[in-house]
Amino acid sequence: MAQLLVTGGAGFIGSNFVHYAHQHTDHYITVLDKLTYAGNRESLAGLPEDRVSFVHGDVADAELVDKLVAGADSVVHYAAETHNDNSLDDPEPFLRTNLIGTFTLLEAVRKYGVRYHHISTDEVYGDLELDDPGRFTEASPYNPSSPYSSTKAGSDLLVRAWMRSYGVAATISNCSNNYGPYQHVEKFIPRQITNVLRGARPKLYGEGLNVRDWIHADDHSSAVLMILENGRIGETYLIGANGEKDNRTVVELILTIMGQPADAYDHVPDRTGHDLRYAIDATKLRDELGWRPRYPDFEQGLAATIEWYRDNESWWAPAKDATEAFYARLGQ
Ligand code: NAD
Ligand code: DAU
Repeated sequence: MAQLLVTGGAGFIGSNFVHYAHQHTDHYITVLDKLTYAGNRESLAGLPEDRVSFVHGDVADAELVDKLVAGADSVVHYAAETHNDNSLDDPEPFLRTNLIGTFTLLEAVRKYGVRYHHISTDEVYGDLELDDPGRFTEASPYNPSSPYSSTKAGSDLLVRAWMRSYGVAATISNCSNNYGPYQHVEKFIPRQITNVLRGARPKLYGEGLNVRDWIHADDHSSAVLMILENGRIGETYLIGANGEKDNRTVVELILTIMGQPADAYDHVPDRTGHDLRYAIDATKLRDELGWRPRYPDFEQGLAATIEWYRDNESWWAPAKDATEAFYARLGQ
């Protein structure tokens, strides 16, 4: 049984990955998570103690990280500050966790010769024009826009340097926008679903023409596991499922599925420096590793996600008021 250390495993994608890896491997999984506002132990409820353990701590705590990495066969690093609007409001935690946290893990995997997989985002490549026929590939130049995406870009570059300079056995994946269960209500899709569930109107930044390339969190997890097991050391893989949709279309779909008029939403002031469009070309992942998404139908996945939020109000309700108070302060 391999020992897998998963950082940020109480967050949205990390917890989905822990459930997925528990189901699809026999690894013993240790979750390291600081339980910031974005972490929730309830997202790991139901997982057996003989397969999954939880350590409450910071990825930037070198002593703790050294101890945990010493006992691991592989590390998958999800922990991060992840929300663009927060990074515009207060960038400091993003530098600490995303840069110093990654540096701390890299030093430990270097010391113990442990396999490392780095979770990153398509936002490191900046944005595409709405009418650009192109999509991001592994060869796209780094051009991040926000404090969040610049710290993720910096963390990717640290990994590349540690691979080349110290021979760290690592892979990197850059994924597009995820949706699914356990996503914090600050993010676009859960915010709108929970607004409707509470009788409030969805909030669309600007005209809502910005495009995101949606992928179900389980499809992200299957790709990460495949890269961890069969990816070539030193390589970067882009993960995406051809799910491009503009924000207005997504809000209208949510309203329609939830039995509301499709135009029952508000326009609010746009995000500063708002990236126009992300789109992923995942040819390398598909051709080299044979990966295929299992949830290619966005509308079906969205309907299931809406059901999950309907059924799990006790999971999201404690965070809703504080999140909306934050947006109210921004006028969004
Ligand atoms: P999230 O905000 O839902 O969860 C982040 C988790 O990290 C939380 O559990 C939090 O408690 C933990 N954490 C934060 N700082 C920490 C620290 N210093 N030490 C230990 N734990 C800490 O994030 P998410 O949306 O699940 O994103 C996870 C990863 O995936 C991030 O690296 C993000 O950049 C990347 N990613 C996200 C998306 C997306 O659509 N959400 C897409 C591509 C890549
Ligand atoms: O592309 C991957 C990235 O996707 C990840 O790296 C980030 O961690 C993750 O947060 C996400 O970034 P975005 O900024 O794209 O996600 P967010 O959910 O914040 O917003 C999605 C789109 O919806 C974006 O164009 C802004 C818009 N939006 C967002 C909110 C919260 C709205 O129109 N209204 C809203 O209320």
